[in-house]
Order: sequence, then structure tokens, then C-alpha cells
Amino acid sequence: MKQEPLLAFGVLFGAANAKCDPATIQAALPGGASVNFAYALAANSTFEVPKSSTGYPTNAVNLPALCAVSVQVESISNSTFGFGLFLPDDWNGRFLATGNGGFGGGINYLDMGAGVRYGFATISTDTGHNSSTGDGSWAYQHPERVENWGHLAMHGSVVVAKAITAAYYAQNVSYSYYSGCSTGGRQGLKEAEFYPEDFDGIVAGAPAWWTTHMQPWTARVALYNLPTTADYYISAELFSTINTEVIKQCDPQDGLVDSIISDPKGCNFRPETLLCGANATPNATSCMTGPQLNTLYKIFTDYLAENNTLIFPTYWIGSEGQPALLTGSAPNPLGTDYIKYFLSKGPDWNYSDYNDDIVELSDSINPGKATVGFDLSAFHNRGGKILSYHGMVDPLIPTSSTPYFYNHVQRTLAPKSIEIDSFFKFFLVPGMGHCSSTPTKMNAPWYFAGPNQQSALDQRVYSVPGYEDEEHDVLLAMMAWVEKGRVPSYVVGTKYVNETTHMDVVRQRPLCMYPKQAKYKGEGNVNDAQSWECKSLY
Ligand SMILES: *[C@@H]1O[C@H](CO)[C@@H](O)[C@H](O)[C@H]1NC(C)=O
Ligand SMILES: *[C@@H]1O[C@H](CO)[C@@H](O)[C@H](O)[C@H]1NC(C)=O
Ligand SMILES: *[C@@H]1O[C@H](CO)[C@@H](O)[C@H](O)[C@H]1NC(C)=O
Ligand SMILES: *[C@@H]1O[C@H](CO)[C@@H](O)[C@H](O)[C@H]1NC(C)=O
Ligand SMILES: *[C@@H]1O[C@H](CO)[C@@H](O)[C@H](O)[C@H]1NC(C)=O
Ligand SMILES: *[C@@H]1O[C@H](CO)[C@@H](O)[C@H](O)[C@H]1NC(C)=O
Ligand SMILES: *[C@@H]1O[C@H](CO)[C@@H](O)[C@H](O)[C@H]1NC(C)=O
Ligand SMILES: *[C@@H]1O[C@H](CO)[C@@H](O)[C@H](O)[C@H]1NC(C)=O
Repeated sequence: MKQEPLLAFGVLFGAANAKCDPATIQAALPGGASVNFAYALAANSTFEVPKSSTGYPTNAVNLPALCAVSVQVESISNSTFGFGLFLPDDWNGRFLATGNGGFGGGINYLDMGAGVRYGFATISTDTGHNSSTGDGSWAYQHPERVENWGHLAMHGSVVVAKAITAAYYAQNVSYSYYSGCSTGGRQGLKEAEFYPEDFDGIVAGAPAWWTTHMQPWTARVALYNLPTTADYYISAELFSTINTEVIKQCDPQDGLVDSIISDPKGCNFRPETLLCGANATPNATSCMTGPQLNTLYKIFTDYLAENNTLIFPTYWIGSEGQPALLTGSAPNPLGTDYIKYFLSKGPDWNYSDYNDDIVELSDSINPGKATVGFDLSAFHNRGGKILSYHGMVDPLIPTSSTPYFYNHVQRTLAPKSIEIDSFFKFFLVPGMGHCSSTPTKMNAPWYFAGPNQQSALDQRVYSVPGYEDEEHDVLLAMMAWVEKGRVPSYVVGTKYVNETTHMDVVRQRPLCMYPKQAKYKGEGNVNDAQSWECKSLY
């Protein structure tokens, strides 16, 4: 059932008299901020990403008519951060900030392109440095850069960009939104914690919220499977075999055999069914040895300190199908670069020296105050709303870390008589990986126009092609909640036959707000969202 398109929400505010040039933008800036560029782009233009922006090099194409702006802002200890701002001619009166990924530094013009198609004045911060998402070397002996990355650059960019937006349209923004995934999810939750006035609604996907513990875990979990020459090593091919067995054992528990594991916690997976017999060849990829079973059990066990305190919760079963952190010849730099550069162990630090003291060091430094705390009461009290989500087979950020965060926010707010569900909801996405996409084996409905998702289809798309409404588009769902008080109980996920052409749909399914789960009603086309309902297990 389709609803009114979003822009029926409000009138379009024209930009008729606004001038798009550096002098006009500079006049709107507070002290310590200066214009890098400001120029108009006609409808259908391509925004050419400046060569200096290494983090997000992809040009934004087929844009609506807009004013493209970039500004540099002075920050602590002589550092600066920059941001990009797209001011569309057909403005919807609202403001949207997009997020970053990993340790990446650079303005995410691609996600700005997705946002500006809705009519938002849309920004992205460079977080105060240049780098690819997996490179943390910029942080070494530069705590001011880490602080910019942790929280200062996003907040500072939002404040200055709102001032520009109000001056440019001669009108204050009516509502402010945030939409980011991964590090972007963390940035959104950090804003809610530290700067509750910045946004009315925050969409925070797969949030990397526990920087101090997740980055060490990233190294720890890889080390369970290293070195690649060990008899306990599990290769990518063997993980694929394990994944097929996981799907076989754990798919039916949700009530429907469809290759999508929707209830991994309801499954008591027994990898012993894969044990090799007497005639197995060395390095077999179709069966497991005892030592390999040990490795698998370690990977799927929460990381605990010696005193049994939880350091970081691990993957949910199903995530082994894309073992991104598990099969390299060394741990992922998202773990080791953090230890070398954010914790100042130095470039020569050897991952074979990893031990749990790293976690205590990490807690004591708390680099850039990036880790998000649980007290979101200030954001609740000002009427803010959060919609979070997490792919259930996320190979980079364990799915379990989002329910953990949610449950701890609930623990923190219940004694303050704050009902978490009144302002913070999240949904799990069966069969979705990290922020977007689904493994071919599962073919799960994963698309709902979340941050980073548009470009995984085709960056020219607007919203959810064919279903541009609040039932299918998470950002429109957030707007309906903030502006109309329409509380979302699910968002429908869509799987297209071909992502690139995004014409025909394979299946759609409700993604239910935690702790509810989608259950097949028992009749009707299983590929039709109407054949499913959100059911509470508690
Ligand atoms: C933009 O270009 C596409 C073809 O690439 C065309 O169909 C569309 O009408 C153009 N839109 C505008 C506003 O010029
Ligand atoms: C990023 O690198 C480019 C080229 O090396 C440089 O011009 C630019 O100032 C850098 N940006 C930041 C924020 O350091
Ligand atoms: C900032 O730079 C100036 C000029 O190079 C220097 O004198 C000052 O000590 C620096 N301040 C900080 C906090 O690093
Ligand atoms: C925006 O809001 C501020 C604070 O309420 C007010 O002082 C200012 O006049 C408003 N600006 C415009 C352009 O309406
Ligand atoms: C098994 O894998 C190890 C480590 O990669 C390699 O050294 C060894 O040659 C392999 N053995 C066979 C039979 O492929
Ligand atoms: C348990 O150990 C961890 C890691 O060493 C430490 O950070 C934490 O404070 C300890 N907790 C208690 C309750 O002793
Ligand atoms: C790390 O330490 C191990 C074990 O001592 C050693 O074999 C390896 O060569 C070292 N790696 C580097 C890059 O120094
Ligand atoms: C999807 O469509 C694109 C564009 O038509 C085509 O190039 C691609 O091969 C298709 N992919 C699949 C898996 O069919």
C-alpha cells in the first residue's frame, strides 16, 4: 500500500533570491571558518570530487540543481576540519547530515547526492583528515585529529552548515536529520549523546559505537584463526562450507525454509556434523577437523576478560559466510592501526604481541571520546528520535553489538522513568551484511534507502524505486515519526531481481522493530510483505 510521497509533507521553499558564490557564503560564516568553494550546478550535473579528497573519491552524478559549497573550520590545537554542503534549488525546508566510514577522512559527496534528491540541504564532514577507510596512520601522535574524528568535526560542521543554510534560504531549517552507517552510525549516536540539539531524528545503521573495545576485538577475533599455516586455520572456502551447513540447520527455526536465517538465536548450531572422516585430505574445504572446530567455537564466543567481564560481543551465526575479518594473513587494520596509532603503540607494533592489556589501555585513553555512552536522556528530553538497524550477517561489526547498546541504554534510562521505546527503536535485517547487500546464498530483502545503500544500487536512484514512501524508506519513516508522530513498527525491506536496474522485485518483507520478529502468516505469497506480521516473542 503506497502512501503520499514525502514531499507532500511540506511546501517547497524556493531559493529564488539566494546567491551561490563564495562571498555570499562567507558572509554567513562565523569567525574561524572560510569558504573553500561555492558554485552553482545546473540540473543533471556531475559534482567532481576535488582530487584532494582521498576518502570518498566517487563523483556524484545527475544531481538536481544546487549550490555546491565547501567550508574549512578551525578546530583545536591548530587543526581544521572541512565539510561539503549541497543546497538544492528545490529545498524541502530541512537539513540532513550524512556520515563517514571506518577511519576514513574526506567528504562523502556520494551520500550527499542521495540526500539532496529528497530536497534536503545536505552535508558531510571530512572528520578533519584525509585517509581511506582502513587507514588509521593519521591518528598517530595527533590526539587533536582523533578528537575531530571522534565528535568535534561532525558537530562543528552541523552548526556552521545550519547557519549557512538559514542565511542562504533566508529561513531557518524546519527539521534536522542525520543518516549514517558504521562509523556513520557511531557519529549519529555520538551526536545524540553529546549534542542533543543538533538533530530531531537520527538514522544510525550498524553503529560502530564501542570504539575502545570493538577495534581490539577486530584484532583478537582474527588471531583465533592465525597463522594461515596452523592446523586449526579455517580457509574462506571452508567458511563457505560452514555457512551452507549453518543455513541448513538454522533457517527453519523462523518458520519458513527460504535460505534466510531470521532467528539465529533460536538455533543450536552443531558444527560437529561437518567433522572429517578417515579419508579426508589435508586442507579439505568440505569438512572440519577437531582443531578447526576449536577455532570456530572461539570465533563464536563473546570476548571476555579474565574476570569474566564482557569485552565485546561476537558475531551471530550466519556471519561466517563473508569472513572479511577472519581469513587474511594478518588482522584487519581496523584493529591493528587502532592499536598502533590511536593507542600510540607505534608503527612497529607486532600483532603477535596482542593481549588483553590493550583493552585496558584503550579504556584509559578513550581516543577522541569516540565511544558512545548509554545516557541518551538529554536527546530524549528534547524530543529527538533514533532509528537504528543492523544486518544480521554483518561480517565487520557483530550484529550483537546493537542489541547490547540498546539494552544498556534501556538499563540507563529506565531508572529515570524514560521509556526507551518512546524515542529509540531498532530493527535487525535478516540476511543483510554490513550496511548494504546480501550474500547470493540468501538473497534477502535488504534495501530500504538507508545510508550508503543508494550507491549499492545506482547512485542516481531516489528513495526506494517503485516504493517511495515511509513504509519502505527508513529516512521517510523517520520523518513521519518526527513530524507526524507516526510511530514506525517496521520498515519493509526490498530485494530487486537486479540491483543495478532495480525494476522487478524478488521479495519484500517487514523488518520488525526489536524485539519483535517477522513471522510468515502461513498463507499468501511468501515474497509479499503482506504475508508477514511482526510478532513479539516476549
Ligand atoms: C537528466 O538526464 C536524463 C537522462 O540522462 C533525462 O532523462 C532527464 O530528463 C534529465 N533531467 C533534467 C532535469 O534535465
Ligand atoms: C587532504 O590532502 C590534500 C592533498 O594532499 C590537501 O590539499 C588537503 O588539505 C588535505 N585535507 C586535510 C583535511 O588535511
Ligand atoms: C599553533 O600554531 C602556532 C603557530 O605555528 C604556534 O605558535 C602555537 O603554539 C600552536 N598552538 C597549538 C595549540 O599547537
Ligand atoms: C532563526 O531562528 C533564530 C532563533 O530562534 C532567530 O533569531 C532568527 O531570526 C531566525 N532566522 C530566520 C532567518 O528566520
Ligand atoms: C595446506 O595449507 C598449508 C598452509 O596454507 C600449506 O602449507 C600446505 O601446503 C597445504 N597442504 C595441502 C596438501 O594443500
Ligand atoms: C575486569 O577486567 C577488565 C579487563 O582487564 C577490567 O577493565 C575491568 O575493570 C575488570 N572488572 C572488574 C569488575 O574487575
Ligand atoms: C611478529 O612477531 C612474530 C613472532 O615473534 C615474528 O615471526 C614476525 O616476523 C613479526 N612480524 C613482523 C612484521 O615483525
Ligand atoms: C543487471 O543489469 C545490468 C544492467 O542492465 C547488467 O549489466 C547486469 O549484467 C545485470 N546483472 C545480473 C546479475 O543479471
